[in-house]
Amino acid sequence: MADATVIDGKAFAAKLREKVAVEVTRIKSESGVTPGLAVVLVGEDPASKVYVGSKAKQTVECGMESFEHRFDESTDEATLLALIDKLNNDPAVNGILVQLPLPDQIDEQKVLSAIDPDKDVDGFHTTNVGRLWTGGDSLVPCTPFGCSVLLKDFLGNLSGKNAIVIGRSNIVGKPMAALLLAESCTVTIAHSRTDDLPGKCREADIVVAAVGRPEMVKGDWIKPGATVIDVGINRIDAPEKGLNDDGSPKTRLVGDVDYAGAAQVAGAITPVPGGVGPMTIACLLRNTVVACCRQNGLADPGI
Ligand code: GUN
Repeated sequence: MADATVIDGKAFAAKLREKVAVEVTRIKSESGVTPGLAVVLVGEDPASKVYVGSKAKQTVECGMESFEHRFDESTDEATLLALIDKLNNDPAVNGILVQLPLPDQIDEQKVLSAIDPDKDVDGFHTTNVGRLWTGGDSLVPCTPFGCSVLLKDFLGNLSGKNAIVIGRSNIVGKPMAALLLAESCTVTIAHSRTDDLPGKCREADIVVAAVGRPEMVKGDWIKPGATVIDVGINRIDAPEKGLNDDGSPKTRLVGDVDYAGAAQVAGAITPVPGGVGPMTIACLLRNTVVACCRQNGLADPGI
């Protein structure tokens, strides 16, 4: 089989952000409302700081208002809940995102449940989870939503296809399965205890890898011609790139899929970086615009 088609998530995300910006302009001119997104970060996790910075920057680039709230690692739950209550009641805030993970002293589920479901642009509130599984108007978690958009753009109709989702997290695996089921796929949710994972994977027309284990899914797990969506973002040592000034090896990003092996068998595959990653923030911006329209009685943006 020839090398797989590379699904360019970076380019697709740029187009989606342009569409969001067009909608923001329309909303402003038709209603005078500027969509606003509040992002909350607790602690100093370097990756979370990068994500939150990128979210704020891209929010502003799309013409929306960005509200950033940063707290130190020792912040207590009551302080966070008080902020969420304030944001829930602030009409300038259409979307609220609390960056995960939170420090141990804070009950994550309690915080997520405190967010107004109509402002829950992450789609993590149980009300939105329920709406997603029952076919209601939910706000859908950004990463799986981005995967579903890429799949539908590349494959068209997904109906009847065998799909496997490897990973059962609340953020990616479970909502991904719900989205594929809604597209009438036959869905297998696989995880660390799954028996004969390679064999089950080989039956799938669509593979979504979201396990957080570098290069776990091998080329010979892939059915020839299948579409492979790699959600993993893993940093591994890359001694072939040389050493840093402190003597530690340089690093590189890899997905949950052995890209070189899978690309020889698959029909199409997302790269890491530049595949699913950029779609997450683009879908967050899209969700914020959708939430803004719903809160203000405006027509659905259709993006
Ligand atoms: N941490 C890792 N991924 C996510 C995400 O999609 N949303 C939030 N809020 N935190 C995360």
